[in-house]
Amino acid sequence: MFIDSCHTWFNVIADGVCVFKCLVNRETEYCRVGKQSVLITLGYNSALLQFKSQVECNTFSNALKRCRSQTKENSAFSERTDEASAAQYFQFYGCLSQQQNMMQDFVRIATYHRAILQNHVDFTDKVVLDVGCGSGILSFFAVQVGARKVYAVEASSMAKYAELLVRSNNLSDKITVLFGKIEEISLPESVDVVISEPMGYMLFNERMLESYLHSKKWLKSNGMMFPTYSDIHLAPFSDEQLYMEHYSRASFWYQEFFYGVSLSNLHSAAVDEYFRQPVVDTFDVRILVARTVKYTVNFLEAAEEDLHRVEIPFVFHIMQSGLIHGLAFWFDVAFVGSLVTVWLSTAPTEPLTHWYQVRCLLQTPLFAKEGETLSGKVLLVANKRQSYDIQIVAMVDQTGFKSGNVLDLKNPFFRTPPVEEQVSDLLRFISTGVRAPLFSIGSSYLYKPILYLGCVIKSKKALSSVMI
Ligand SMILES: C[S@@+](CC[C@H](N)C(=O)[O-])C[C@H]1O[C@@H](n2cnc3c(N)ncnc32)[C@H](O)[C@@H]1O
Repeated sequence: MFIDSCHTWFNVIADGVCVFKCLVNRETEYCRVGKQSVLITLGYNSALLQFKSQVECNTFSNALKRCRSQTKENSAFSERTDEASAAQYFQFYGCLSQQQNMMQDFVRIATYHRAILQNHVDFTDKVVLDVGCGSGILSFFAVQVGARKVYAVEASSMAKYAELLVRSNNLSDKITVLFGKIEEISLPESVDVVISEPMGYMLFNERMLESYLHSKKWLKSNGMMFPTYSDIHLAPFSDEQLYMEHYSRASFWYQEFFYGVSLSNLHSAAVDEYFRQPVVDTFDVRILVARTVKYTVNFLEAAEEDLHRVEIPFVFHIMQSGLIHGLAFWFDVAFVGSLVTVWLSTAPTEPLTHWYQVRCLLQTPLFAKEGETLSGKVLLVANKRQSYDIQIVAMVDQTGFKSGNVLDLKNPFFRTPPVEEQVSDLLRFISTGVRAPLFSIGSSYLYKPILYLGCVIKSKKALSSVMI
C-alpha cells in the first residue's frame, strides 16, 4: 500500500495498481473497523478498505487523521471573506431552485452552450476545469464537445447533486466533482481550459471573478479562459421619476405624529440609506444622455488583486440638455475561441437577462447642456461581504457643478415589475394568440433573485427566438 499524499488526494496502490483514489478534506468521515479495515465515507458512498496488514491499516488511518486535523490554512477566499457572508452565500447556491433560476435564464444558458459548441475544437480531448459548477451544467456542455476530463469544483452543497447528475448520466469517467472552494481544493493535473459563470450584478458583485482568476493557477501556460474578458459599460441617465420615487420611499420617516411619535429626525438618515442602494431593473435606452464609457477586465491577464480596487475614470459628452440623475451600468462577456468569439450581453438594448442593468443615483441631480462634458470617476472598493462599496464623483466641467454618491452593492433595490404585472403580461400574450414563454417572478433575495420559469422578454425579436 502506498499513500500518495496527505494533502487532499489519496491513492491507495496495491501491487503497483491504484485500487482506490479519493479526495480527503477536514470533513471526511472515517472509522476503523477491526484491526485491518477502515470505513470511509465519500459523498453518498462508503467504502470499506481492507488492508493486508495492521501496519498498512495504521499508516493509512494515521494519514487520514493528520489530514483531518490539519489546521485550516487561510485561503485567498477566507482571507477576503467574512465567514457569515460565505455561509449565507453558499447556502443560497446550495438550493436547487436557485440553480434552476440561472439555468432558466435562456440568454445566459443558450449563449454559454453556443460559445462552447461553436468552439468545439478548444474542448475536444482537453482537460477542463469548471469553477463553481453548480448543477454541473457547463461541465456537461464541455463533455458534449469531447472534453477528455472535466474537474467540476463547487463549494456549496450543490456539489452532491452535481455528482448525482454525473452518475445518472453515466459520465463518472469524464467528470469529477470536487466539493470545495477553488482556492482550497487541489487538482491532480493542470488544465487546458477553465470555464465558469462568475458574473454578479454590475459584473463585480459576489467577488466570484476573483475566484475565477484564482483558478488560473491550474491553467497550462497557453490555456484558455471561457469567458475570456468582460466589458463593463457606464453612461449618465436622466430619470426624474426614479429619483422622486427613491426620495419618497423615505417620506414615511417624515411623519410628525406616527401613533403619537415624531419620526422626522430620522428622515435624512432614511434618505441616505435609500440612496446607498443601487437600483436593479431595466430601462429604455432613450434615458441615456451620452455615449457609454467602457472598462475591460481581461481574465487571461488580470490578477485577483486587480479587482480589490477598481477605478473607472470617465468623460461623457452630453448629447441632450437636462438633469442627470445618475449612472447606469451593464456588462458584456466575450468567449474568445479558436473558431469564433461569442458575446453574452446584458445591455439595455439586448434581450433581458437575470442580471438586468444597475443604476446608481447621484445624491443631487446635475444640470448639463448638450455639448458639455461630465467628468469624474467610479471607484469600486471590494469588501469582506463579497461585494463592493461604490463611490461616484462627477462634475460638469463647464459649470463646475459637482455631485456624487457612495453606494453599497451588496444591498441593491430590486425595482422589477410586480408579479401581477408579469402575470398579466403573460395573459396578454396568451390572449393575443402568441405563444408566450413563462415569465419571471420577482422575489427579493440577494444574489440572483429572480425566479425564472422561462426567460424575460423585452422585444418581439427575442420572443420569436425562444418560442417553444
Ligand atoms: C453563478 S453560479 C453558476 C453555476 C453553474 N456554473 C451554471 O452556470 O449554472 C456560481 C456557482 O459557483 C459557486 N462558487 C462561488 N464561489 C466559489 C468558489 N470560490 N469555489 C467554488 N465554487 C464557488 C457557487 O456556489 C455557485 O454554485
